[in-house]
Formats: sequence, structure tokens, C-alpha cells
Amino acid sequence: MRQLSFLGFILSLTVFGTVAKSEISSQAQLGRELFHDPSFGGTIDSNKASGMSCATCHADFDEGKEPDGQIRTGHSIIGVRDRGKSQWAKVTSAIFERAAGGAGFCYQRFLQRIPERKIDPSAIPEDQAEALMAYFDYVSIGKKSPKVKLQGLSKDASKIAADQILKINGNAKNGWKIYAKACASCHAKPKRGGIGPQMVKSRPPANLQKRLHKIASYVRAGGFTMPAMGVEKLSDQAMADILAFFSNLNKRK
Ligand code: HEC
Ligand code: HEC
Repeated sequence: MRQLSFLGFILSLTVFGTVAKSEISSQAQLGRELFHDPSFGGTIDSNKASGMSCATCHADFDEGKEPDGQIRTGHSIIGVRDRGKSQWAKVTSAIFERAAGGAGFCYQRFLQRIPERKIDPSAIPEDQAEALMAYFDYVSIGKKSPKVKLQGLSKDASKIAADQILKINGNAKNGWKIYAKACASCHAKPKRGGIGPQMVKSRPPANLQKRLHKIASYVRAGGFTMPAMGVEKLSDQAMADILAFFSNLNKRK
């Protein structure tokens, strides 16, 4: 009898534990909605919004443990608070909380397409920054932050990286798969524009090697709204495969 009630006690603890974990505060719920909202940060002036949401570039779960097949430019938002500082240099520890752990930078740079030098990471409305932080905390319960490292080479280094990639034989079939996972969320189909420009034009470029080089270095260095992807996200072989895929599309025309 005693044993049974002890068992019941443990059972109720477990049940209570799961219930407590799945309950989401209204603030964190607002954060979750903002995180997935492509109109968050935008205005009625469509030029001032990119159409991206935070979820375009960040997972809200542990991609290492629960991979979903996507290759995202940003890291998971698991454990943001524990990082204590952001990879974005403008997000100092003094404004860490106000800038929602670095999200305030992304809000202006990627959602509102504001040039980097003009960005104020604390410009994100305070209640929304708080809601995002509450959501980060909610998804982080019992989980550890992945290792975060800012990607992106200088223009010169990205050209050297591209030289290296162009020496590798790519596989067009793999490239198609990797393109779909890493590029298509923004570039849609390679022959039709999405958020980003069209990758493959109806007329093949005059100099295909030069075009492929530009693509490889652009990915390594990043652009204006497009974040860089380093070897941690896409190996040189994966990049070579993507280029083989593009070359193949150009050939068929
Ligand atoms: C276009 C892609 C993109 C979009 C959209 C985007 N981010 Fe980011 N974000 C990045 C990249 C790249 C970094 C650099 C560090 C990293 O990879 O986590 C970053 C950094 C961060 C960081 C700081 C991580 C750290 O440790 O430095 C947080 C927090 C964050 N983003 C949250 C958000 C939120 C919330 C939104 C929506 C308002 C958002 N991001 C929109 C790409 C994006
Ligand atoms: C988060 C959205 C996003 C992702 C993911 C993304 N891009 Fe982009 N890309 C853009 C945007 C937006 C531009 C327009 C210029 C800018 O803002 O940098 C662009 C521009 C480019 C350019 C320069 C324009 C041109 O046609 O020469 C290249 C090359 C490019 N992307 C290649 C890629 C490849 C290859 C991948 C996948 C490995 C990729 N991009 C993934 C958003 C993205």
C-alpha cells in the first residue's frame, strides 16, 4: 500500500512535470506568434518588409537532436539567454535583454532591410522583445544552447574559398537536394524569384565559371539581406554540388 502510494506520488510528479512544461504563458505565446509571422517588423509599405519571418532563418528546436532536413542560415534559438551575449557586435551585454538576445538586430537587418551601419538593435518595440525572450526561455526548458559562431568571410577570403570550391567535382543530383534545403526558402525555384533574385536566368551567363565563382563567394561572404553560410552549414563539397546543379540547369537551355 505504502509502495503504491509512493508510486502514485512519483507518477503525479511526472504528470505534473509534463503539464508544467507544456503550459505556455501568454507572453511566450505572443513571442511564438511573432517568431513565425512574416509581417512582423513590416509595414503596409511592402518595400519596408522582406517577407521573411524569424523562422525563415532560425529553428525553435534543437536541430542537432531533432533534424528536420532544413539547412538554416541562423542558429537555433534554444538557450539564447544562457549565451549572455550575441554574435552581433552591436548587441553588447548591456543591451542584451532589450535587444532580445540579438533578435533586435535581425529584426531591423532582415525583416526591415535596414543597412547594417544604421541598425539600432534596441529599436524593436520593448513588449515584443520581452515576448520573444519569454518564448526563447519557454523552448529552452531543459535544453542546452548549440555552439554559436557568426559565419561570413570577408570579400577577399570568400573569393579564395570560392577558388577552392570550383576545383571540386560536384554532383548535380545532390546539389538539387542541398539547394532545396539551404537556398529555396528565399530563392524559390532557381529559375523564378522568391525573396532573393532568380539564380538561373533563361539565357546562360557569358562566363559560366565566373558566375559559379560569384555564387560560391556570395554564399561564403553573405550579402545585404542574405546571411552568409560557412562550412559549418554547407561543406565545400555541398557548395560544389549546388554549383553542379546550376551548371546542369544552364546546359539544358
Ligand atoms: C535572414 C535570416 C535571419 C532572419 C530573418 C532572422 N535572423 Fe536572427 N540571426 C541570423 C544570423 C545569421 C545570426 C547570427 C548568429 C547565429 O547564427 O545565430 C542571427 C542571430 C540571432 C540571435 C543571436 C544569436 C547569438 O547567439 O548571437 C537571435 C536571438 C536571433 N537571431 C533571433 C532572431 C529573431 C527573433 C528573428 C525575427 C525577429 C530573427 N532572428 C530573424 C539570421 C536571421
Ligand atoms: C534567408 C534568405 C536567403 C537564403 C537562405 C539564401 N539567399 Fe541568396 N540572396 C538572398 C537575398 C535577399 C539576396 C539579394 C541580395 C542580398 O540581399 O544580399 C540574395 C542574393 C544571392 C546572390 C547574389 C545575386 C546573384 O544572383 O548573383 C547569390 C549568388 C545567392 N543569393 C546565392 C544563394 C545560394 C546558392 C543559396 C543557398 C546556398 C542562398 N543564396 C540562400 C536571400 C537568401
